[in-house]
Amino acid sequence: MQKKVILTGITTTGTPHLGNYVGAIRPAVEASRQENIRSFYFLADYHALVKNQNPKRFRQSTIEIAAAWLALGLDTDKSIFYRQTDIPEIMELTWILMCMTAKGLMNRAHAYKAIVAENETKRVGDPDKGISMGLFCYPVLMAADILMFKAKEVPVGKDQVQHLEMTRDIAGRFNHVFGDTFVLPEAVTDTKTAVLKGLDGLKMSKSYDNTIPLFVPGKKLRKLIMKIKTNSQGPEEPKDPKTCTLFEIYQAFATEEEIFAIKKRYASGIAWGEMKQILFEYLNDHLAEPRRKYRSLIENPQYIENVLKEGAEKARTHSVPFLAEIRKKIGVQTIGG
Ligand code: TRP
Repeated sequence: MQKKVILTGITTTGTPHLGNYVGAIRPAVEASRQENIRSFYFLADYHALVKNQNPKRFRQSTIEIAAAWLALGLDTDKSIFYRQTDIPEIMELTWILMCMTAKGLMNRAHAYKAIVAENETKRVGDPDKGISMGLFCYPVLMAADILMFKAKEVPVGKDQVQHLEMTRDIAGRFNHVFGDTFVLPEAVTDTKTAVLKGLDGLKMSKSYDNTIPLFVPGKKLRKLIMKIKTNSQGPEEPKDPKTCTLFEIYQAFATEEEIFAIKKRYASGIAWGEMKQILFEYLNDHLAEPRRKYRSLIENPQYIENVLKEGAEKARTHSVPFLAEIRKKIGVQTIGG
């Protein structure tokens, strides 16, 4: 039986937080362990270049994001874990796909449109101010990432669904012109996985500056948890776990029995201070081991480099022959003998 192919890219920016873990990293790590799935996970560092043009930070982000995924248990034997910049075939495919992509399709991208709209309201004169061709063509590079490995399912956040529609559009165009070549992928937005709220009760997100980073030292973790917004109910009052950020985070990590026990405490009244302490101790315990692994990986970038190089080798056993096939289809062939 053919294995199901899933693939997802991880932009190498920011510091991974609890929300990223629960929403994206943990489900991916689980999938990476399954026998009946062929999974590709890669660091989308050329995507990061659109925003991050500081070489030191560029390199450091790659190390940190790779270390995070490895520390959290990604199975790099069963899955293929690599860095986009190690796969030159992706770049070549990007150009080929560019030539099959209507500019009008890119004009409709939400991310691009949002910046243009902002420029227009701010009356900066040039609606395209601050927009590089890299930003504009971002979806084409993403299409190349996906189509190169014939991925069928692409787990992504809701904000990426449009990029998958565009990928299908581009692939369809190529298939129409040059014959059946690419698998049309689908976005998988998991509605079952929890979306965590952050310190202020809004969705935990880097853009709201309300996150709890995964690998902060215990002391800092405690400080952040103590900051989580709660309501003004007194210590003895029965409380509703459903509307509580503390409970929501606890629930994303705890077992059924533990959740049941805490619900009982809410019903009989638990002081917010006590619940915060419980949540802190619980997370601190659970994150101790990944945190230790993360630290030791960060101190050993050579090891990370080796893992990524091995991943790239595996990935290229797919990309090299497939690109050769694609080149042939468009007419790039040796002339004469
Ligand atoms: N654009 C994605 C994001 O911001 C990251 C990404 C790059 C990606 N290439 C991809 C995701 C290919 C899925 C498949 O989250």
